[in-house]
Amino acid sequence: MKLVTWEEIVEWSWGLAEKIRQSGYKPDVVIAIARGGYVPARLICDFLGIENLLSIQSQHWVEAAAKGEKAIIKFEYEVDLSGMNALLVDDIVDTGESVILARDFVKKRWKPKELRIAVLQWISPVAKIKPDYYYMEVKEWVWFQYPWTRLEDVTQFIKRIVTTELKEHGKKRWTYSEIKEYFKEWYGIEVDERYYRKAVENLVESGILSRESDDIYALNVK
Ligand code: ADE
Repeated sequence: MKLVTWEEIVEWSWGLAEKIRQSGYKPDVVIAIARGGYVPARLICDFLGIENLLSIQSQHWVEAAAKGEKAIIKFEYEVDLSGMNALLVDDIVDTGESVILARDFVKKRWKPKELRIAVLQWISPVAKIKPDYYYMEVKEWVWFQYPWTRLEDVTQFIKRIVTTELKEHGKKRWTYSEIKEYFKEWYGIEVDERYYRKAVENLVESGILSRESDDIYALNVK
């Protein structure tokens, strides 16, 4: 797992915008693939001076680093982009399925004059598509912990740790600091304290953990 900071996102989006500018392509409209493409798409609008920004929700990954069933377009609304140069933006092309689905939908239903694809990262060995623009080619698959999925990811990963430790070692009770230590050990990254706190709260709320005392959490076995 690789932690990505807000500063890196600005750096990468800046570099991506430069590549688009240098290619001579002048998008009239940017289409953010929700939800991962929102921040990069907004920054690209800023860096290239583009006013028109809209979005399409193509969802593939249902939980952090675990594949969902397949990609779907969640809200199929109609927009007329005829005569316009469009730029479809996402954070990452991993398998490429959600980008392919969004591209096909936009081409067929929104009918832009031209549609190009820009992403921050392209995982070339697994991707079914090569985007027109990418800031970074990734040669070995890794989970990027982007700043906009920090809480969601930390929650999922802690859930994975506690359920795996139960299965493999019968571990049922956790102190809060153990949870943090295991997280650092397993994933090799650290996040702000507030994310661990909230993630544990989330797991208590969803019934996966119970708070036994001030610092002790028990895993609820089903
Ligand atoms: N979404 C899909 N693939 C991803 C990856 N490898 N890292 C972060 N987010 C992703």
